[in-house]
Amino acid sequence: MVITLDGQAGSGKSTAARKLAARLDVPYLDTGAMYRAVGYQMLQEAVSLDDTAGILEVARDLDMQLDCGPTHTRVSVFGRDVSEAIRSLDVSRAAAAVARVQPVRDLLVCKQREIGAGLGAFVSEGRDQGSVVFPDADVKFVVTADAGKRAQRRLDDLHAEGEEATFDEVLTHVIERDANDARQWEPLLEPGAAIVVDTSDMTLAEVVDTLESYVRERVVDPVGA
Ligand code: DC
Repeated sequence: MVITLDGQAGSGKSTAARKLAARLDVPYLDTGAMYRAVGYQMLQEAVSLDDTAGILEVARDLDMQLDCGPTHTRVSVFGRDVSEAIRSLDVSRAAAAVARVQPVRDLLVCKQREIGAGLGAFVSEGRDQGSVVFPDADVKFVVTADAGKRAQRRLDDLHAEGEEATFDEVLTHVIERDANDARQWEPLLEPGAAIVVDTSDMTLAEVVDTLESYVRERVVDPVGA
């Protein structure tokens, strides 16, 4: 059984995907962590964000291992666990640059399919999982939330981390990102292509309940299938 979750940054899809995997007791494949691992290594090797050839070389040479469980994806590069290190703001910026290099995407898509084949049943999360990587997935979700709600969530997170920002700044950033990010998952908005879950007015528990009930409705034995 393959379940894909794609959609907007800040829609809560990562946490929802992890919690859904835990409920179904199947591994969670966090594909963003793979883009981040390449970004991390780029920074280690001082490759600049606009050096497309350099980024591709880093990605090609990278010894990356993923450990996917029902509550986590842990990532190591060259034998070193970088699961926490890849969450920094610098790595986020580098990962966004990595995600724009098509040959790197092709490489990571192959790796994601290899990992998926090894896992059998799993929940995969990213922004091209249902459209590109696992087009034959059993259940495909697109998770969205309105831009204002996502901006407010991001602002709350920044304030919690002690960062200064205004709502308008964050909203502008969210809208700019959407224009670039939507390309991969937009095909899933075609009628019948995926289940669209708008989380604007839902708590995390409600989102997970909704996803789980769709899966149980569509897949008779989610773990065995
Ligand atoms: O979801 P995230 O923030 O951990 O993802 C890190 C970066 O990788 C982000 O810029 C989006 C990009 N990404 C992607 O292009 N395709 C994926 N399947 C997963 C992530």
